[in-house]
This record gives sequence, C-alpha cells and structure tokens, in this order.
Amino acid sequence: MEKKIKVLAISGSLRQKSSNTALMNAIIALAPDSMTFTIYHGLGDLPHFNPDIDLDEGPVPVHELRTQLKEADAVLICTPEYGNGVPCVLKNALDWIVSSGEFVNKPTAVISASPTSMGGDKAHASLLLTLKMINAEIVEGER
Ligand SMILES: Cc1cc2nc3c(=O)[nH]c(=O)nc-3n(C[C@H](O)[C@H](O)[C@H](O)COP(=O)(O)O)c2cc1C
Repeated sequence: MEKKIKVLAISGSLRQKSSNTALMNAIIALAPDSMTFTIYHGLGDLPHFNPDIDLDEGPVPVHELRTQLKEADAVLICTPEYGNGVPCVLKNALDWIVSSGEFVNKPTAVISASPTSMGGDKAHASLLLTLKMINAEIVEGER
C-alpha cells in the first residue's frame, strides 16, 4: 500500500470565523486520498518566544508543536495579514522553531487570504523570508 503524505495544517488566524481557516479546511476537503491532514490547534497556547525558557524539551505547548512538525511530511500554512505583516501568533510559533530545526527541508506551502485586492502579499512575502531562513522547502505550484 502506498504511504500517505502526512500534512500539518496551520491557520495563522485565531478568529472563530476565519476565512483563512475556512480556506485551509476547503483545501483539506479537496485533497487527494494520498494525503492525510492534522490540523494544528495550539497556536494560541504557545508562550511568547523567549530563549531563556527554551530549556530541555521546551515548554509543553512548544514541545507539542515541535513533535507535530517532526511527524509531518509537509506543512500547509494559510494566514491573514495584520498591519502589513505576519500575525504575531504565527511568527511567534516560527520563532520557537528557529533553533530546533523542524522546518529544515520540510516541504511547506503558504497561502495568504485577505479581503483587500493585495491578497495579503506583504504577510506572504515576510512569511516566505522567515521560512527560507529556517530552511523550509517552499512548495510552489504543482509538483
Ligand atoms: C488589526 C487588523 C489589521 C489588519 N491588517 C491588514 C493588512 O495589513 N493587510 C490586509 O490585507 N488585511 C488586513 N486586515 C484585514 C484582514 O485581512 C481580515 O480581517 C481577514 O479576514 C483576517 O483573516 P481571517 O478571516 O482568516 O481571520 C487587518 C485586520 C485587522 C483586524
């Protein structure tokens, strides 16, 4: 039997009626059977990034995020743009991963959805910069 591709799906919005979360769920619903998805629910529970508390396995919510990333073959991120940038909760999550390295060579797809005509382009560009810095493999288009 063919091994399924495990994808960790992360919405950058904590809002209950988030359009980015809805988009993420639509992608999951349309994905082929060869893929399985785990939705990451811990974004709002992560402590503010502070290297001083990144000891041993790190705080429990951070350890959970790192474990879920480790177990995933790929990552899907759907995020809004706030104040011309990446929502702080999402950037905070990525800051926790800089030193631990779970994004290294991880195929990662990024979508930003916004009601403005610019489509959250600045958050998208900024997020790509951060993901490239932590050596994620950015997935663009069909492979
Ligand atoms: C405080 C705040 C700042 C925002 N800043 C931007 C922005 O810089 N660029 C943009 O395209 N949309 C901006 N928006 C609009 C969001 O894109 C919009 O609220 C979107 O629906 C949020 O995503 P969500 O539906 O997934 O929660 C902002 C919204 C809020 C509440």
